Amino acid sequence: MAEVVLRDLVKTYPGATARATDEVSLEIADGEFMVLLGPSGCGKTTLLRMVAGLEMPDAGQIVIGGKDVTYLEPRRRNLSMVFQSYAVFPNKKVADNIGFGLQVHGVPAGEVRRKVEWAADLLQLTPYLDRYPAKLSGGQRQRVAVARAIVMDADVLLMDEPLSNLDALLRLSFRAELKKLVSELGTTTLYVTHDQVEALSLGDRVAVMRNGEIAQCDAPTAVYDDPASQFVGGFLGSPPMNFLTGTVEQAAEGSRLDLGGQSLTVPAALSAYAGKPLTLGIRPEAIEVADGDGALTGELQVLEPLGSSALLTTDIDGQTVKVQAPPSFRADPAERLSLRIPPEACRWYDPETSLLLEVR
Ligand SMILES: Nc1ncnc2c1ncn2[C@@H]1O[C@H](COP(=O)(O)OP(=O)(O)O)[C@@H](O)[C@H]1O
Ligand SMILES: [Mg+2]
Repeated sequence: MAEVVLRDLVKTYPGATARATDEVSLEIADGEFMVLLGPSGCGKTTLLRMVAGLEMPDAGQIVIGGKDVTYLEPRRRNLSMVFQSYAVFPNKKVADNIGFGLQVHGVPAGEVRRKVEWAADLLQLTPYLDRYPAKLSGGQRQRVAVARAIVMDADVLLMDEPLSNLDALLRLSFRAELKKLVSELGTTTLYVTHDQVEALSLGDRVAVMRNGEIAQCDAPTAVYDDPASQFVGGFLGSPPMNFLTGTVEQAAEGSRLDLGGQSLTVPAALSAYAGKPLTLGIRPEAIEVADGDGALTGELQVLEPLGSSALLTTDIDGQTVKVQAPPSFRADPAERLSLRIPPEACRWYDPETSLLLEVR
C-alpha cells in the first residue's frame, strides 16, 4: 500500500487551447478512497491516466509510496486500473480473465488459481468461473474487471467510471459491494466519476474538479454541507443548492438581504457587504414550509410528487427556489407558501467571486 502525492500537474493536449489539468495538487493517504468528481471534460480521466503513466504531464510530479514515478513506465508503478468499458476477453473463461495479469507476470499456476478463487469469492463470481463472458450480465462482467484488478495486489487501484455502463439498479447494488470490498482491501484508491451520488457514497474524500482544477477537496459531508463555491453547491445535490441574490441593506435591527420586496436576516459578520450584492445558498431539503410564520413567501409553481418527498418549485420575488417537502405535502397551484429559512442552513457567497464567505 502507498500514499499518492500529485504536485502541480499540468497537461495540455497538442492543439488544445486550454489546459486539461491546470496545476493540480492532491494528496491521497495510504488506504484512502479518493473520488475525483466533476462534469464531463473537466480533466478527471487525464489526471487518472497521468497517475497510471498512460499520459505524460507537461509539468509537475507524481509520487507513489515516497517514490517519484512521474516518468516511470506504467507497468513499473505497481498499480491496477479498471476502465469504464470493462475490457474482458470474450474468448477466455472468467477464471482466465481474472488471472490474466498474474499469468502475464509469470506467477506460478497454483498461486494464480488461489488468488482467482479469492477474488471470485469476494465478488460473488465463484459459480461463473468456468463460463465465457458472453454468458454473463453486464454487472457480472464488470465484477470480472474489478476482480482482475484486485488480484494484482497493486499499491494503488485506479478506477475510471467503472459503474457508468451498468443500468441504474445494478449500479446501486454494485456501488455498495464495491464500497465494502475496497474498505476490506484497504488499497489506496483513486476513483473517477461524474455522478455526485456515487462520489458522496464511496469517497473518504471527494475532490470536485472544474476546468482542469480542483475546486474543493474534503469529506463528502463537508463538500455537501459547506460548498466552497457556488459551482460546488450547484454540482452536488439533486436538486442542487438554491442561490438567491439580493442587496444588503442596513436596518435598525441589523443587516438584511433585500430580495426586491422581501428580505432576510444577514449575519452580523457580513455587515461589510452593506449596499452590495450578496448571494444566499440554501439546500432544498433545508427549507421548511411553515404555517404562516416563515421568513419568506414563495408562490408555488410546480409540485412534483417523487415518492419519498415532494419537490416544490417556488418563485420568491422573481427568483426560483426548489423546496423538498414531505411526501404528504399538498397545496394548490399558485398558492403562496410560507417558507422558513433556518439561519444555520444558510451559506453566503460573494456573487462576484462566487466563493463561500466565512461567517463563523
Ligand atoms: N487524447 C486527447 N487529445 C486531445 N484532447 C483531449 C484528449 N483527451 C482529453 N482531451 C481533452 O481534455 C479535456 C479533459 O478531458 P478528460 O480528462 O477526458 O475529462 P473528463 O474525464 O473529466 O471527462 C477535455 O477538454 C477533452 O476534450
Ligand atoms: Mg473521463
